[in-house]
Amino acid sequence: MQDLHRAAYHFQPEGNWMNDPNGPVWLKNGLHLFYQYNPFGAAWGNMTWGHALSPDLLHWKRLSPALRPDQPYDKDGVFSGCCVVKDGLPHILYTGVNPKQTQCLAVGDALGEAFEKYPGNPILPEPPVAGMADFRDPYVWKEEDGYHMAVAGGYKGQGGVVFAYQSDDLVSWRYMGELCRGDDPKNDVWECPNLLLFPDGQAQLLLSLIGSSGVYALEGRYAGNRLTPKRALYRYDLGDSYYAPNSFRLPDGRLITLGWLRETVPGREGSGWQGMMSLLREVSLASDGSVQVRPLKEMERLRNGRLFTRKNFTVRSGDNPLKGVHGRQLEILLRFEAGADELLLELAKSPAGEEKAVVSFDGGSDYLQADCSKAGGAAAPCGGATAGRGVNELRIFLDGSALELYLNNQETLSTRLYPSREDSDGLRLYARGAVRILEAQVYRVGSAYEED
Ligand code: FRU
Repeated sequence: MQDLHRAAYHFQPEGNWMNDPNGPVWLKNGLHLFYQYNPFGAAWGNMTWGHALSPDLLHWKRLSPALRPDQPYDKDGVFSGCCVVKDGLPHILYTGVNPKQTQCLAVGDALGEAFEKYPGNPILPEPPVAGMADFRDPYVWKEEDGYHMAVAGGYKGQGGVVFAYQSDDLVSWRYMGELCRGDDPKNDVWECPNLLLFPDGQAQLLLSLIGSSGVYALEGRYAGNRLTPKRALYRYDLGDSYYAPNSFRLPDGRLITLGWLRETVPGREGSGWQGMMSLLREVSLASDGSVQVRPLKEMERLRNGRLFTRKNFTVRSGDNPLKGVHGRQLEILLRFEAGADELLLELAKSPAGEEKAVVSFDGGSDYLQADCSKAGGAAAPCGGATAGRGVNELRIFLDGSALELYLNNQETLSTRLYPSREDSDGLRLYARGAVRILEAQVYRVGSAYEED
């Protein structure tokens, strides 16, 4: 029987376990995406760099792994990292584990077909602070004065830290001090730092916090290897599935991030796979200085038929204008006026409603929520307060067990659902009170895999 929890347009390996996206990089033949992968099972282990190629940012071709744990210094795992192009060749920086964590280099050919580990590995054999066990996930970018690297670490019982390094050749690195440091004992290891740089020294640092099980962001000014935050650490994705995002730039300059959509319930190993990739998200800076996140524009080309469209109507409690619209691979667009009332959308709904996931936006508190507890997902709903607006625009992507929400190109919420019935594919749109819908559209979304 078809596994209805698999994704059709989110990237996934054919089977087995995957976690973090690693080293996304645009080469001559397209976007190379690597990821933490277990070639031998559907649980975390044997960390290898899985490899996939997308010529058009929409369709994926799965390739054989790029890096395996086959050296003394990385025999316990080829952990997360990044990829930068130097002299026309992709240079991967990753963490080798043996079990000590060190930073290592591997260089590929121009088309990213094969990678060779640097014979002098590890290039960074020790953390800058003695005795620090967590020292991983290098992230490299180029500035006028050379290459810069952020590496994650943590002071036990005190807080996470990101270390700053500098290099001219990607091989020998100088320690430049702490890029920034946290003071939350519950989050004493930061993972997968990604520094997104915008004009005039504005920056956003993405951090994955194991303690809080989520991605957080620090915004501020970056100069002289330091980040000076201008607002407190805040939750970057309001859901319970997004983790360890990585970023890259397209040749046209667009800054893109993507993250791991992890399973939200235990016991999924029996399905033969766990984990998938989020959609590619374009990140930009608005004129008011706020960071915006939206699905990649190209996604519209994957639309495969419009199932519903209507403008200017009001929904109330007993309504369902989406009756008769079905699908598990959908994009839904809702533009609505947020008064004080709550707009609700049920997805993956069985005919009598025993199974359903419920997305809701409460106009009174500007709170966005997804509750997948009646669709096999996490028992607790996930969500958070949003900036809200007079007119809100919500884009919803449902793809098998993946659910991604984008609100006003500002907040995102990623979660997972695992409905058990084949007929759990209905929709219902209604309100508690009354909500004015300016525009509603539903599209079927096609497959990202040529072989499907
Ligand atoms: C984040 C992480 C990274 C590490 C990798 C190992 O999910 O724990 O810190 O490099 O996964 O798979």
